[in-house]
Amino acid sequence: MRVLEVASEAVPFAKTGGLADVVGALPGALSRLGCDVTLVLPAYRRVFEQGLPIEPTGIEFEVPIGGRRPLARVLRCPVPGSSATALLVANDEFFDRPSLYGGANDYPDNAERFIFFSRAATELACRQSAPFDIIHCHDWQTGLVPAYQKILYRDWPAVANARTVMTIHNLAYQGLFWHWDMLLTGLDWKYFNWQQMEFHEQLNLLKTGIVFADAVSTVSPTYAREIQTPEGGCGLEGLLAARAGVLTGIVNGIDTVAWNPATDPHIPRPFTAADVEEGKYAARVALAARLGHPAPDDRPLVAFVGRLVEQKGVNLVLELLSRLAGTGRAHFMVLGTGDPAAEESLQRAAASFPGTVDVVTHFDEGLAHLVQAAADIVLVPSRFEPCGLTQLYAQRYGAVPVVRATGGLLDTVIDATPEAINDGSATGFVFGPAEAGALVQAVERALDLHANRDRWQQLVRQVMARDWSWDSSGRAYLRVFEETLARAPATIG
Ligand code: ADP
Ligand code: GLC
Repeated sequence: MRVLEVASEAVPFAKTGGLADVVGALPGALSRLGCDVTLVLPAYRRVFEQGLPIEPTGIEFEVPIGGRRPLARVLRCPVPGSSATALLVANDEFFDRPSLYGGANDYPDNAERFIFFSRAATELACRQSAPFDIIHCHDWQTGLVPAYQKILYRDWPAVANARTVMTIHNLAYQGLFWHWDMLLTGLDWKYFNWQQMEFHEQLNLLKTGIVFADAVSTVSPTYAREIQTPEGGCGLEGLLAARAGVLTGIVNGIDTVAWNPATDPHIPRPFTAADVEEGKYAARVALAARLGHPAPDDRPLVAFVGRLVEQKGVNLVLELLSRLAGTGRAHFMVLGTGDPAAEESLQRAAASFPGTVDVVTHFDEGLAHLVQAAADIVLVPSRFEPCGLTQLYAQRYGAVPVVRATGGLLDTVIDATPEAINDGSATGFVFGPAEAGALVQAVERALDLHANRDRWQQLVRQVMARDWSWDSSGRAYLRVFEETLARAPATIG
């Protein structure tokens, strides 16, 4: 099966969050299952800073965007750890910038940048000699691809018989733009209606993808259900419910090579379940040194790694710090970037509890690995969470996750009730309401269990035994691809 993966980020090329981890690993997983995979990404400035063997292809073409025809230059690079190839769409005006989407504010021309990318990716697919079976798109940045394949490029042999699959990694980001940006798409205004590309008078790129794709998926079964309800649907619940017949939820896998405590170059003493205590102690020593402490204290380390935005429950973390940091029961560490006000509040918390609360507000991949290795408890108190990867990395590194009962967190963590610990099924602590009191209680439950060394070690070993490799998720995607290919394409109305 020939598969084209189209996305706006992928490890190791460029990353802002879990999307990159997933899109970086999926080509390898699909290749191992016999697929011939090509990945298309924007050639951001950052892509050239990773020391990758990028080479020119000689392919270049103009992409009509409104009245302009900017040039797409195509570069090539193997996808590390797989037989897949990445094709990078370069255009310095759009992608030679310091960040992927903008800093605290989005770049004002993000509509134009990703309309350009989506059209270039579709046309690039058309220009390949062998036809594609599946075009798999991720998130709003690629939402126009299914529409382009069905409308503007339907006669090109390389994509004419392809089926498109749209994967939603986060419904909260829909790519909503001014209606006049419709002119940039090159698509007829007749598609700008409430059943297709319009959402309350704006252009909605993710909605477009959901409408025009032959199949839709999201990154956990629980989130697939949640997005069909008014609470989780971000206004698209009706559309998603209407597409329920072709909507699936597939929990993300993790890259078990990049995230392997037994071989991780970012940690001082690699470890397995057999020597997890020694490994964690060495990581604590290294982390203390990184943070400027003379030595680690002997309290359990409770950590948070993630974007500092409302979705992630950052206000619950702040409240937790104000209630627990003064008790002396644990050491806290936050690694994250995001909302400047949240960064500032966290820095204030760190200043109020020196030696107990550490806060690092930049993006540091190596430090994220070290924190997972050093932590005893990892917090994921998200308000909503399509899948979440940090709780999966935590489990692999023997850190016990404390998560809120939502989305993929619910599908990947089993609460450590006494029965669940005894029968070996427990893999973390789960709390219900999005309230600080519930989070504090769950963390206290974890700390109480931590005080019993044997019981805690039993839980840690159970947690580490969970298999989140891509094998089963890769097979689930392949099944979706096969089922989609077996169906007639969606009609465009
Ligand atoms: P999301 O994609 O919603 O941000 P996920 O849990 O799926 O959430 O993925 C988050 C990814 O981003 C993980 O790989 C996590 O380690 C990483 N990450 C988040 N913030 C940082 C940071 N400040 N430094 C390093 N890695 C980070
Ligand atoms: C999104 C979601 C996160 C998910 C990631 C990868 O960023 O917020 O829950 O794990 O995509 O699918």
